[in-house]
Amino acid sequence: MTAVVRSAVTGVGGYLPDGVVTNDDLAKFVDTSDEWIRERTGIQQRHQAAPDQPVSDLAVEAARRALAAAGRTPADVDLIVVATTTPDLTFPATAAIVQRKLGCPVGIAFDVQAVCSGFVYALSVADGFVARGRSKCCLVIGAEEMTRLMDWTDRGTCVLFGDGAGAVVLEPVEGQGTTADRGLLGFALRCDGSKQDLLYVDGGASTNGQIGYLRMQGNQVFRHAVVNISEAVTAAAEDAGIPVADFDWFIPHQANQRILDGVARRLGIDPAKVIVTVAEHANTSAASIPLALARGVQDGRVKPGDLLLMEAMGGGLTWGACALRL
Ligand code: UT7
Repeated sequence: MTAVVRSAVTGVGGYLPDGVVTNDDLAKFVDTSDEWIRERTGIQQRHQAAPDQPVSDLAVEAARRALAAAGRTPADVDLIVVATTTPDLTFPATAAIVQRKLGCPVGIAFDVQAVCSGFVYALSVADGFVARGRSKCCLVIGAEEMTRLMDWTDRGTCVLFGDGAGAVVLEPVEGQGTTADRGLLGFALRCDGSKQDLLYVDGGASTNGQIGYLRMQGNQVFRHAVVNISEAVTAAAEDAGIPVADFDWFIPHQANQRILDGVARRLGIDPAKVIVTVAEHANTSAASIPLALARGVQDGRVKPGDLLLMEAMGGGLTWGACALRL
């Protein structure tokens, strides 16, 4: 056994904007129903940011909570990685805006764009800094205002998404190079760009110069989701050297209750071990995993030392999974 440096999650925080939109609220202006949305997705409501509340504000609140949980202050932070698809501005990176708003010292700050898989991708990128000694205190934040990308006349997408942010503090800890170590233990990241047309936003600075709207062939994405996610989860567990059955908690991206159930069934995961927030949060893209983690930690289910498996899939198509010990 050789001593190794691992990136450990030392604090977790989540933030949801105050505005709540129920399924019945949506049914007032789009041809849908509470019954259809609940049955097909499990979603009951979603949070929506105020018009003057940019995504960096959500990220800052989640980050403050994560720093407090870790016993750190903004002055300690030397690296910020924000996973977002809905930045405040085309540039600078939302991470740079978060650094300014938190009052962190000059350090490293940048965004990662992998849509709903963004948080898993961002964790992997941050791990490269922390485990190599290039960061002593890193914020990894998933923050999204997906409601800004909705075509409110498209019932196939506008009922599915919500706004929110979640953050973790990553710090280096010494391990023995075994599965008993605390920290990030395994990853599997994937992208199949040939499936772009299944889920994308039809706008961009270098094409039509617009923000655009989210477009999705939902049933096609659904078809890929369970198979792709299950493969990545198995690969991340293998990368960590830990059987899937040994993990304490499964913390998935929250797109659809039927996807969560399908993946758990395929992998033989006890549904009681799955942290589910989709009913209250809907799909918050890169924010959904850290928000679910924050929920599990806050209500006392997820404890230090627990083994966690996280997974996500989204536009790209991207997908991926991460294994860690809290
Ligand atoms: O996080 C990024 C990854 N995204 C996902 O993982 C999303 C994956 N996809 C899904 O979750 C599901 O495919 C949806 C929830 C988007 C749709 O559920 P579905 O069971 O695949 O329905 P469908 O798209 O096959 O549509 C079935 C019917 C259609 O009507 P017809 O053609 O059968 O008459 C739709 O027009 O349901 C209709 N429909 C709706 N009806 C009421 C679609 N959206 C709605 C709606 N309300 N909001």
